[in-house]
Amino acid sequence: MAKITAPKGTRDILPDEIYKWQYVEKTFSELCELFGYREIRIPTFESTEVFKRGVGDTTDVVQKEMYTFLDKGGRSISLRPEGTAGVARSFIENGMGSLPAPVRLFYNITAFRYENVQKGRYREFHQLGLEAFGSYGPEIDAEIISLLSAFFERLGLNSVKIRINSIGCPVCRKDYNAKLKKHIEPNLTNMCKTCNDRFEKNPLRIIDCKEEKCKAITKDAPALIDNLCSDCEEHLKELKKNLDILSISYEIDRNIVRGLDYYTRTVFEFVSDHVGTQGTICGGGRYDGLIEEFGGTSTPGIGFALGVERLLMEMEAQQIAAIQPKDPMVYIANLGSEGADMAKKISAKLRKVNVSCQVDLMGRSLKAQMKYASKMNFNYTIVLGEEEIKTGKAKIRNMKNTTEKEIILSDIDLLDFSKEINT
Ligand code: HAM
Repeated sequence: MAKITAPKGTRDILPDEIYKWQYVEKTFSELCELFGYREIRIPTFESTEVFKRGVGDTTDVVQKEMYTFLDKGGRSISLRPEGTAGVARSFIENGMGSLPAPVRLFYNITAFRYENVQKGRYREFHQLGLEAFGSYGPEIDAEIISLLSAFFERLGLNSVKIRINSIGCPVCRKDYNAKLKKHIEPNLTNMCKTCNDRFEKNPLRIIDCKEEKCKAITKDAPALIDNLCSDCEEHLKELKKNLDILSISYEIDRNIVRGLDYYTRTVFEFVSDHVGTQGTICGGGRYDGLIEEFGGTSTPGIGFALGVERLLMEMEAQQIAAIQPKDPMVYIANLGSEGADMAKKISAKLRKVNVSCQVDLMGRSLKAQMKYASKMNFNYTIVLGEEEIKTGKAKIRNMKNTTEKEIILSDIDLLDFSKEINT
């Protein structure tokens, strides 16, 4: 029979590595809370319409990468390829527009994209992200970028430079699109089919094409940042000023366009050399038209998402270790039925005072039990055999420094004991 394996592009996160995930997740949520963000949990799947209208139906994500299917009721459903569209849908549906602005939300999600699987690129991956709704000013852009920077700092990542660009608003984009089309048109027949399809519908997407022949044509294309309207120009100027006030290091990258359609004005990315060709660890930006696109009252928004797999790869490349979980505390080896009963009683008491402990449940020999305790790195062991039950005394052995201490089983003070071993 063929072996059952995980689907291509997915992976199990095993107990031995989970602490790394918990460490970055905890660091992120603590920082978000410091900045006033509250956690939101959204569905894993949405109506396909949410992503078509939100992410944009001329994007690679929607056209090529979405897991879309009809459910048993004949509805078109898609697994979320990202979090922003679902959070925006939830913002409108739950009337969050009436909450005091800005409404700050963060999330920890899995996302799904049918992509070519390679290093740092999976079909199921994890994002830590946040969205802030209700503020047009560049101050919140700077605050969000500073949160991202603080996150990297807390993790201990070095030489982190966030790249920023402005891709304007519908006003400047109209004129810009005309310029871009003029630049591309003479060579359009030499471009890929997708670029040809996008030429009329969404010419800005052409700049994001990964095909070499298309990249060669768009290499010298006019950049949006040089064609901003006065409001967008002012927004960018003020953003830079605010980042300087916050001492955030950044660089302007005229080539960032982002792969999703909802962005307006500020866009930013953090790219690393370590993750190979899939170097973008974090991407984000402003999306002032998204809520309106979904039929809500016009509300600006901005956010970002970090790919956790890529972040962990970067930490590993920079040799940054996540905080390891503590070794388990007490192992109670036991022999005979009375020893086993006493072990159960003590273990229940120890857990009540938050001491992690285990007893043998496998009927193993004393030697095998001690071997298990040492393999599992227990800090302390207690042996409860016939002799101990008879005398009412046992020894607690510190497995790290091999010292022993006698305890009276009838009056073992577990609270004192827990204090002693927890310090
Ligand atoms: P994105 O740039 O498409 O933006 O994805 C954000 C991050 O998710 C990427 O920088 C990358 O680290 C990770 N990522 C994306 N695809 C994959 C994949 N196939 N395998 C592993 N990691 C991946 C968004 O998703 C936007 N929703 C971000 C945002 C939030 N913009 C505003 N608010």
